[in-house]
Amino acid sequence: MSKKEFIDSLIKKMTVAEKVGQLNQCGNSIYGESYKIGWDILRQGGIGSFLGITDVEKTNELQRVAVTETRLGIPLLLGFDVIHGFKTIFPTPWSEAFSWEPELAERTAEAASKEAAYSGINLMFAPMVDISRDSRWGRLVEGAGEDTYLGSEFAKARVKGIQGENLADREHCAACTKHFIAYGAAIGGRDYNSVDMSEQTLFNTYVPPFKAAIEAGTRSIMTAFHDFNGEPCTGSKYLLTDVLRNKLGFKGFALSDAGSCNQILVHGFSENDKDTAKIAMNAGLDVEMCGGKTIYADNLEALVEEGLVSLEALDESVRRVLEVKYDLGLFENPYRNEQEAKDALLTEETRNLAREAARKSIVLLKNNGILPLTTKKAALAGKFADSREEMLGCWSGVGEAKDCIAPADAFDFPVADGNYENYDVIIAFIGEKRCMNGEARSRSREVLEEEDLELLRNIKKAGKKLVTVVISGRPLVLKEARELSDALLFSGALGTEAGNAYKDIIFGKYNPSGKLVSSFPESIGQQPLYYNINHTGKPLGDDERWATRYIDSRIYPPLYPFGFGLSYTEFKYSNLQISDCNPKRDGEITVSIDVENIGEYDGEETVQLYVRDIVASSVRPIKELKGFKKVFIKAGEKVTVNIPLDIKNLGFYDRQLNYVVESGEFSVMVGANSADYISKSIFVE
Ligand code: BGC
Repeated sequence: MSKKEFIDSLIKKMTVAEKVGQLNQCGNSIYGESYKIGWDILRQGGIGSFLGITDVEKTNELQRVAVTETRLGIPLLLGFDVIHGFKTIFPTPWSEAFSWEPELAERTAEAASKEAAYSGINLMFAPMVDISRDSRWGRLVEGAGEDTYLGSEFAKARVKGIQGENLADREHCAACTKHFIAYGAAIGGRDYNSVDMSEQTLFNTYVPPFKAAIEAGTRSIMTAFHDFNGEPCTGSKYLLTDVLRNKLGFKGFALSDAGSCNQILVHGFSENDKDTAKIAMNAGLDVEMCGGKTIYADNLEALVEEGLVSLEALDESVRRVLEVKYDLGLFENPYRNEQEAKDALLTEETRNLAREAARKSIVLLKNNGILPLTTKKAALAGKFADSREEMLGCWSGVGEAKDCIAPADAFDFPVADGNYENYDVIIAFIGEKRCMNGEARSRSREVLEEEDLELLRNIKKAGKKLVTVVISGRPLVLKEARELSDALLFSGALGTEAGNAYKDIIFGKYNPSGKLVSSFPESIGQQPLYYNINHTGKPLGDDERWATRYIDSRIYPPLYPFGFGLSYTEFKYSNLQISDCNPKRDGEITVSIDVENIGEYDGEETVQLYVRDIVASSVRPIKELKGFKKVFIKAGEKVTVNIPLDIKNLGFYDRQLNYVVESGEFSVMVGANSADYISKSIFVE
């Protein structure tokens, strides 16, 4: 029987109540006291999926009830937030993007997916592909930073990693790309706040990573909590049908965020629960992830009976869910071997991968020559020096602090508390605690805590050399830390192998190669801050008095620009060449540049290609990333780096939302970061 025949015949057998059950996703409260009734509902076919259940014994038990004790025996989707690792914890997604290596993100996503899959999870609430240009927003840590092109590359890679080539191979989960859409643009950077933006910005900046995830085959999409241009995302027909289905061609199922269906009512966008269910269903929301209430389970049946929701729409949503279950092979075997599940967790292989990812996720921001470290007379300091817990970061799956390597576990140096007499160098691990970023963790002041700055000042006062390692889930104002430090390293929480990764970097076993994916501000009050602002009529550079700036702090270049990151060696760029300076609009060119390693260490460099459309029918950004390549260059060697540039990618969505590539002059900029490059013009015909 073909897949279509199988699903058609199943849908034919289902009652409306059983269909509604497939659209009902419940939490792990079924294992608590408060929701004992959940077991009866499950047996009646009233629950199609769960979230947050991670023990293999329980995932097997739930599948057994669904398959053997319900009338039709339909297996369950079991979802979980595997954001940067399941048991083995990898760097936070934002920090991992510092690697500028989507292929690395694909491998860590795949390893995480495998660990989860062996435990019976088959739906991963990842990747988070929201572009974030505002470091006040706490969820910036879950994405790939401020840039649309880079974000799209990571979106694609992460979906591919999670899902693999074949969903049925029992080593991969279905991906749930989130949160649709523009969540990172919450006004004021406050989580859950409204988003109000032009459709042009929506399509040029926020849609592309979702488009990339859809093209990579993401099987589901999660809606967002906020209201977008006046409509809650979870109840917006415009977003869920016109954009997601009709424009982007998404074929999987759309899942609400936790309780976001119910919140359509809280927004004041529906009259009551029944009205909420009608709005959400008719907007195009397939599955409700419940939170507090079960809006679909309680109301959809009546709505179908009354003709307010069509049976065809219900069937279509059910089909989308069943297709994913089918493709995962759950109808054949939804169970996992409990011993194999345990053996699949935290292996030597995943630890090695975690270490590789972690050291590539660290950015060297300053080095006056003290690193790589040679002295033996050093000590560790700071609140993170001996904290395994803090290495986990936010959303740490089922990862445990006891499995993490803290700096104190990795280095042979003591942790010094105040008396620095016996040491030449102090390595201070400071920054933002894990509870300070993630969901509902927006901050109005993205600064280092006073106790951290005091520590750095005291070390300096004691006349010691200072290596500062800042760990954070968002860009912070690092001006004073930079001044006080002889060397400054930055990363997000790096996960299980964090301590070893810092050691690899600090002793030069690995030459730092990370580059920032967010602009770092000079001072608070500069958000949103991003490199690819539009060209204003009063740009910086001409007349400072009347330029787009603040009178009390510099914004451009920011303290550290997008794409910035140092190495223990130095790279010299020269000889920018373009294969064809008069390409056609559908042409493709190659941009090449010589990069020479003029320092003493072998190292990796990420060569970045930016483009500016000089004259267009819309005001365009001052530059936009359009390509990059990470290359390894031996000390003393020179390589020619070729980056392909498809002219089609130089277009944009105009006011009518047509994607246009306009002829005329474009400036092509190639360099080490968004503020340091060589440029040349091309003329598109
Ligand atoms: C978050 C989602 C997450 C869901 C399930 C929500 O609060 O916004 O990103 O997937 O919870 O845990």
